[in-house]
Amino acid sequence: MAVVKQQRSAGPRLTIGIVGGGQLALMLCEAAEELNLDTIVLCEHEHDPAASVATKVLIGAATDFTALQALAAQVDAVTFDHEQVDLDQIAQLVESGISVFPGLSTLEAATDKATMRTLFADSGFALPAFVIVDQGEDDVTIAHEVDGFAASVGLPLMVKPARGGYDGRGVFLEQTIESATQRVRELSQVGRVLIEAALQLEAELAVLVARDLEGNCVVYPPVVTTQVDGMCREVVVPCALDDELLGEAQLLAVDVAEVLGSVGILAVELFIVDGMAVICEVAARPHNSGHWTIEGTTASQFENHLRAVAGLSLAEVAVVAEAIVMVNIVGNDLGDDPADFLDGLDPTGLHLYGKPARPGRKLGHVTLLGQDVQEVRESAWKIVAQLHGELG
Ligand SMILES: Nc1ncnc2c1ncn2[C@@H]1O[C@H](COP(=O)(O)OP(=O)(O)OP(=O)(O)O)[C@@H](O)[C@H]1O
Ligand SMILES: [Mg+2]
Repeated sequence: MAVVKQQRSAGPRLTIGIVGGGQLALMLCEAAEELNLDTIVLCEHEHDPAASVATKVLIGAATDFTALQALAAQVDAVTFDHEQVDLDQIAQLVESGISVFPGLSTLEAATDKATMRTLFADSGFALPAFVIVDQGEDDVTIAHEVDGFAASVGLPLMVKPARGGYDGRGVFLEQTIESATQRVRELSQVGRVLIEAALQLEAELAVLVARDLEGNCVVYPPVVTTQVDGMCREVVVPCALDDELLGEAQLLAVDVAEVLGSVGILAVELFIVDGMAVICEVAARPHNSGHWTIEGTTASQFENHLRAVAGLSLAEVAVVAEAIVMVNIVGNDLGDDPADFLDGLDPTGLHLYGKPARPGRKLGHVTLLGQDVQEVRESAWKIVAQLHGELG
């Protein structure tokens, strides 16, 4: 059955404010145009990816309260490109009556892995074994915590600062008690630290849930994600996993969205361990694991995020191809710009974000659709190899 999308009725155009001008803001702005929404983006730099497509741009840091207030004063609702925000400032915006999505308590959990883990443990969700070390803890207590935890879960250990991590920057695999203790000492000087069991992962999945203001949810099909150095590199749809497990993963993601009371897209990252889904973390915004939804579904994650934030009803989601693969284009070691290697490439499904090229930086992605996962994967990686400057 064809999905009929609700269009905005005539009336004053709503304006959505986006904190941060990266690629997620860029793709939100592109989706906003389709929905007849205006966008104002708070960009740190005038050439940030979203600056060229936003209706209006304000220049300022995400933690510059004056700039945030200026943004809030001009928009109907505020949402985010990233989580590197000051929660006290956001709380002040909410107190002054500004509509902020995904909502303050969701942001509190999504921006702090220790808060997130504690909330999820209290809610009875399956998690890796973990322990939290407080900021400024003394050396003796830290050594005691690491020793005791390693004795119960074994080595190696994963050590993560509670705040500030993204794209695997902030995930430390420690093979020995000494190195784990040292890492925790360093990190605990600036904030709380999460120590967890390093699990043998059978797969990593991500499930996106769009949730609106009334609590209605639309859940996307689970996808398999592959990380390289902690950074998402490839997403494959459909998941070649047991249907029952995938159904459970979707229900779990909806439960998580409900516990958080999130509005907009919530991405739930899951580990599959011993045939069971275990929560890694959530992101309360559009997510790299959902870029494929632009070409691969009838309503992208960006569209449904905006619909929720703008108070529109969510669009139902249908997948439009049998096999879909998204691969990130990541800056090569030479710092080459992928835009220099476009010769002869079909631009369908290719997204370059216009960011200055740097080694290891996400610079774009490509999504290909087809009938056979292996063939689509091969074609996608060939395009990416060309854009990484690896062909010829
Ligand atoms: N406990 C663990 N056991 C095994 N692998 C893990 C564990 N924790 C994290 N990882 C690996 O590191 C990756 C990044 O972890 P996590 O999502 O916590 O960090 P992040 O820096 O917030 O990353 P991102 O923002 O890109 O999702 C995971 O996708 C997984 O591949
Ligand atoms: Mg993650």
